[in-house]
Amino acid sequence: MHAKLLEEQFPDLISRIAQVRRDIHAHPELAFGETRTAALVADYLRGLGLEVHTGIAQTGVVAVLKSGEGGPAVALRADMDALPLDEHNHFPHRSKQPGVMHACGHDGHTAMLLGAAEVLGKTRNFRGTVVFVFQPAEEHEGGGQRMVEEGLFRRFPVDMAFGLHNWPGLPAGSIAVHQGPVMAGADRFDITITGRGGHAAMPHQAVDVVLAGSALVQALQSLVSRNTDPLDSTVLSVTRFEAGHADNVLPETAQLGGTVRTFRPELQAAMEAGMRRICTGIEATYGVGIDLEYERGYPPTINADDAAFLCREVARQVAVGGEVHTQLKPSMGAEDFAFMAREVPACYVWLGNGPGEGGCMLHSPHYDFNDDVLATGIRYWVRLAERALPNDA
Ligand code: NI
Repeated sequence: MHAKLLEEQFPDLISRIAQVRRDIHAHPELAFGETRTAALVADYLRGLGLEVHTGIAQTGVVAVLKSGEGGPAVALRADMDALPLDEHNHFPHRSKQPGVMHACGHDGHTAMLLGAAEVLGKTRNFRGTVVFVFQPAEEHEGGGQRMVEEGLFRRFPVDMAFGLHNWPGLPAGSIAVHQGPVMAGADRFDITITGRGGHAAMPHQAVDVVLAGSALVQALQSLVSRNTDPLDSTVLSVTRFEAGHADNVLPETAQLGGTVRTFRPELQAAMEAGMRRICTGIEATYGVGIDLEYERGYPPTINADDAAFLCREVARQVAVGGEVHTQLKPSMGAEDFAFMAREVPACYVWLGNGPGEGGCMLHSPHYDFNDDVLATGIRYWVRLAERALPNDA
């Protein structure tokens, strides 16, 4: 749908959606607590006459729109949750909730998908089924994973799924489509080293966990530098090392923790196996006991070739100035759309939010979603559904 057509057929849509966006921004809610937002979303969708399902993954909302007989099905997904930080903006739609803020633009994602549902519900220029997925708890809590586990794609089978995130630092209304990996997998680990505490002046009577831990931190870095293909981007960061309280006491235990980021599921497995191997070696070398808890977090988000092809084609039609980025590096950040992208061919794109002036970057207390890109986002969703569900009639 072209910019002009959208304005002609839906003259007040963008201003109404901007109001919805600002209303959600002013009333942010944390993971799995998005009750007000979910009610707003469900009411809006019911008002459009869509079939609406609530309570999926607690606060998730799904709406189904069919047009014509048969045809394929696609899922379009937005996230609804905010972040636990104080907003430092002073505009009228700033957060009314202390310590909670839409600092990642999920207010904009939700509003744009509502706008797209409205346009698609009225124009119906497609044959097939659009499943609108409004998921809770994208930030850290894995609401997308829970929706999949609660049968999202069994209840609402689709042939492809699509996600979108605003991206500060990219020109407003431009669109980035990655081939293959777009966001990293994020795992976390906790390590407990147990030795024998004792007098710092008589180390031979103790088993020193600080020395063993120091050796462990260094040895773990060899996994990336020596065991991983240099062309496979991988990060292992030890971010926590806690041991001891006094100058003259060798502590009994040390606690370490950190994160592993990769772009391929095989590398997650290889990193975990390598960490276990190194821990066993350090145990033998230093006579300590080491307990490693390795927790798989969000998998890498990997765009399927056929889905990315569609997204690139649509992006070229709707991006401001036709500006489509196809050669950007993926982000080391993680995204739980990955759980949906593991189930069905999928593509996740970035929508430029503007240059990020004044600290308008993701997760910053100065962030705000750019309402100037609402129209581009809505056109993208509408055109993508029309392109993926061609109307043969
Ligand atoms: Ni986000």
